[in-house]
Amino acid sequence: MLLQGRKVLVGLTGGIACYKVPYLIRDLIREGAEVRVVMTAAATKFITPLTMETVSANPVAIEMFPGDRFVGTQHIDLAKWPDLVVVAPATANFLGKVASGICDDLLTTIICATPSPVIVAPAMNPQMWKHPSTQRNAAYLGEIGYQFVGPAEGEMACNESGLGRMVEPSELLEVIKVHFGANRKKKALTDRRILITAGPCREPIDPVRYISNRSSGKMGFALASAAIAMGAKVALVSGPTSLTPPQGVEYIPVETTEQMYKAVSKRFPRLHCLIMAAAPADFTPQAVADSKIKKGKAGLKLDLKPAVDILRTLAERKKGQLLVGFALETDNLVANARKKLKEKNLDLIVLNSPLDDNSAFDSPSNKVTLIRSDRKPEAWPLMAKEDVARKLLEKVAGML
Ligand code: CTP
Repeated sequence: MLLQGRKVLVGLTGGIACYKVPYLIRDLIREGAEVRVVMTAAATKFITPLTMETVSANPVAIEMFPGDRFVGTQHIDLAKWPDLVVVAPATANFLGKVASGICDDLLTTIICATPSPVIVAPAMNPQMWKHPSTQRNAAYLGEIGYQFVGPAEGEMACNESGLGRMVEPSELLEVIKVHFGANRKKKALTDRRILITAGPCREPIDPVRYISNRSSGKMGFALASAAIAMGAKVALVSGPTSLTPPQGVEYIPVETTEQMYKAVSKRFPRLHCLIMAAAPADFTPQAVADSKIKKGKAGLKLDLKPAVDILRTLAERKKGQLLVGFALETDNLVANARKKLKEKNLDLIVLNSPLDDNSAFDSPSNKVTLIRSDRKPEAWPLMAKEDVARKLLEKVAGML
């Protein structure tokens, strides 16, 4: 009974994944939680309120102004009641409304009024999830503290496959347990000192120009959030990004590869684990011009020298630290990643390919393969970067 006495409000919006929610509620109740259910009108088309009342053993709330009943400030009472709100499934429409502050039904009003943390399990057609406005809304909700779980990849009810399935109830239950500190895995990284690098680096050419790459920092920031949630002490060294560092990390912003190297190197001796998710430069200008280089009729030739290879350099000083690298390859993927693993003396390399749809650079999702020297490659399906981060850190916890 790991959730004894916890109050969980489960919100359902209109999607076929509603059929999975009774299983989640049954498991929450088995673990001792008290559950109340709020449904949107669309959700009632997919599963009946009677089913939800039966599994939750509580009345279901649907309407803001139910015809003949006194409700008073029902929305505020329901908003104040829970320790945690879980919205599953969450549609694109729901995310859009909440991201815009629209409260036009009972569930969105409760979400806006609740002081409690909110976990969201999106479920929709892959194109709807990929739509730029859905992505913007999900990113914004993530920034203001909503925890996203999924969507997962797989077959959809609409006969398409891709990223859009609601995660399985068992996975959602694990996340809820982690949230309440009721999961043994949660403390798997307690007191472990982990440094994560993220984002691109900028190599200056002159005072106004630089060479950089398309890394967004999303993977590294997701790793930092997940590591904090698992109890680690986390330093996040990041190149320029538009992301907000998760609460609780030591945040060290840098610009150049040399600065990133110095920040990591200083902390390296005390670390248990270094995860290099950043995309530092491989080359940097031989010299930086003091003033802006004027344009001329002739082209410009830049002399580049190799930038410091942070992982390789630190691996030579390794004293028991676990080293995790990322490899971005476009051909001979596994062979090249294995070569990097060996050459850089790493414990684990996470291979991703920018050629995969929806993967790697600037994408909210990632499809990775884990490579270790003594094992077969472990290919994971396409997942949201948050889910890749959580699973990768579970792996790291096992290796530490
Ligand atoms: N890396 C690093 N320092 C650099 C460049 C890369 O520490 N100057 C790290 C990255 O953070 C990543 C790993 O090395 O974890 C592999 O990066 P990748 O760019 O795929 O490989 P490279 O070693 O740079 O080799 P190449 O670009 O030739 O594939």
